[in-house]
Amino acid sequence: MEIVLTNTPEEATELVASLILDCLGEKPDLVLGLATGSTPIGVYRRLVEAYRRGEADFFQVRTFNLDEYLDLPAEHPQSYRSFMWRHLFDHINIPRENVHFPPSEGANLLRRCEDYDKAIAGAGGIDIQLLGIGSNGHIGFNEPTSSLRSRTRIKTLTEKTLSDNSRFYKEGEIQPGLAVTMGIGTILDARQILLQAFGSKKAEALRAAVEGPVSSICPGSALQLHPRATLFLDPEAASLLRLREYYRRTRQNEEALRRQGRL
Ligand code: PGA
Repeated sequence: MEIVLTNTPEEATELVASLILDCLGEKPDLVLGLATGSTPIGVYRRLVEAYRRGEADFFQVRTFNLDEYLDLPAEHPQSYRSFMWRHLFDHINIPRENVHFPPSEGANLLRRCEDYDKAIAGAGGIDIQLLGIGSNGHIGFNEPTSSLRSRTRIKTLTEKTLSDNSRFYKEGEIQPGLAVTMGIGTILDARQILLQAFGSKKAEALRAAVEGPVSSICPGSALQLHPRATLFLDPEAASLLRLREYYRRTRQNEEALRRQGRL
């Protein structure tokens, strides 16, 4: 894992957006794994701004979203499909058929979940997977005790996740208790993983994910098994990490080697 300690969420967002835009410049048919939630909104805003300035072209990009609530209609304001169109797809030139979400309505869900993983592989695999992390350590909706080799499937949401997300639902409105999510194994297949986490509510999850043992009780810890996972943290999210000074030096050394053109 590479830990990038930033001063603000904006700085983290800027770094992540620039990385994606640089990769897009090199590979116009980039395959992106995308996340929802409050954390990635700034990155999507920057991608939209780059598109409006004529600095990014999404016409050949293909996207696969991490997760979706079971049986929540696409047009529901809390569905992850409506989130993605609202924050990104409606504002860039990505063709509708290049956008993919896990199956979350109708029948034959297990087979269609397998098809989702096959579609990702068929697109050549995910080049960059954008991730957040839940306060309980989940990535996607892989809740604690998810198999570290799981594939796309249905998950029951924990009480913690339900209470963290209840703020998005009006009083009396039914909040979905199940979701379909890429598995941890699916996520680990991505060539590069960029995770952002902001705020003190994430500090304990980050401590467990980065400096704890690899364990299904903290699904984020599975990223320790990935050769190219970079975590962009603000000071609050990083506050419980013991090796902060080491992460800082590691980053400085890498930047120096890059400046010397040796990487
Ligand atoms: P958040 O959610 O970005 O809204 O904090 C992250 C997550 O639960 O994965």
